[in-house]
Amino acid sequence: MTEAIDRVGELAGEGLRALSGAKTESDLLEVKGRYFGKKGAVSAILSGISSLSVEERKRVGGAANEARTRLEAAFEARLAEIREKDRIAREGAETVDVTLPGRALDAGHRHPISRTMADIVSIFGRLGFSVRGGPEIEKDYYNFEALNIPKDHPARDMQDTFYMDWPEGDLVLRTHTSPIQIRTMEGMRPPVRVIAPGTVYRCDSDITHSPMFHQVEGFAVDTDVTMSDLKGLLTEFCRMMFGKDLPLRFRPSYFPFTEPSAEVDIRCVICGGSGCRVCGNSGWLEILGSGMIDPAVFGFVGYDPERYTGFAFGMGVERIAMLRHGVNDIRLFFENDIRFLSQF
Ligand code: PHE
Repeated sequence: MTEAIDRVGELAGEGLRALSGAKTESDLLEVKGRYFGKKGAVSAILSGISSLSVEERKRVGGAANEARTRLEAAFEARLAEIREKDRIAREGAETVDVTLPGRALDAGHRHPISRTMADIVSIFGRLGFSVRGGPEIEKDYYNFEALNIPKDHPARDMQDTFYMDWPEGDLVLRTHTSPIQIRTMEGMRPPVRVIAPGTVYRCDSDITHSPMFHQVEGFAVDTDVTMSDLKGLLTEFCRMMFGKDLPLRFRPSYFPFTEPSAEVDIRCVICGGSGCRVCGNSGWLEILGSGMIDPAVFGFVGYDPERYTGFAFGMGVERIAMLRHGVNDIRLFFENDIRFLSQF
């Protein structure tokens, strides 16, 4: 029996030495298995004590259990030491290079349409125009009626839109920014010089038409406004917008709310006039509709047509943005593909 107790003492001593000599977690586990794991030497002694007397069993068993407790405590302590050493070594290896540039967040930027619209407004701002807006859901009266387009007028077909039945009467998604002319003139006396950007809607969809698009309306009313004022203004606008002197062409046209009316073309910014795919070989690109405000419109807002004259124009923002950036499909602006948008 004393033999068994001596053996326990020896095992405890060996085990403790082996634990303190272990360098890694797996060394430690190996020592545990050998000395005090389920199949280790201490367990073997415990399972061999059944042949001893009750008295002896108590003493040997007590000694073995005590040895195991000490070994386990030593194991935990050494495990903590090894882990701490590993952590320090790992952190020492993961050095931070403070001279590396940081990872910058991608800053967003304005949509090319919003930017073009803001640029147009800012140019006219510098030319003495102030900014006005109006509702996108507009009364039939402002979108058509007061612009000299009665209910049965064929011009309504050119601007087919989305109609809504509302308790207060006919409402439409506005088809152009021209209703802002009426709203503005109802609320102020000449001289008027206003620029009015906004979203407009039409039942239209192909590579140059989107059911939702943007316009910038401009108009001026005073006692002696002439068509040459309009021409001078638009020439100056194009110079500021495209950064060069571009010849303008006024082509006779028709709008119910202007007389005379003209569509304005600029010399093709792509080919310079020699003819290309973008201008359909004509050398010219249409950018806006314009004209002298029809006296009938003045009748709707209570301006005296004998005393006042005015011009108005409405340009398509997408058109200008397409010319400016060489984009050939209007739908790209609204697909919100970040690969397209991040180019601007
Ligand atoms: N509102 C017209 C359109 O959308 C453009 C225009 C505006 C024409 C002002 C003349 C004067 O087609």
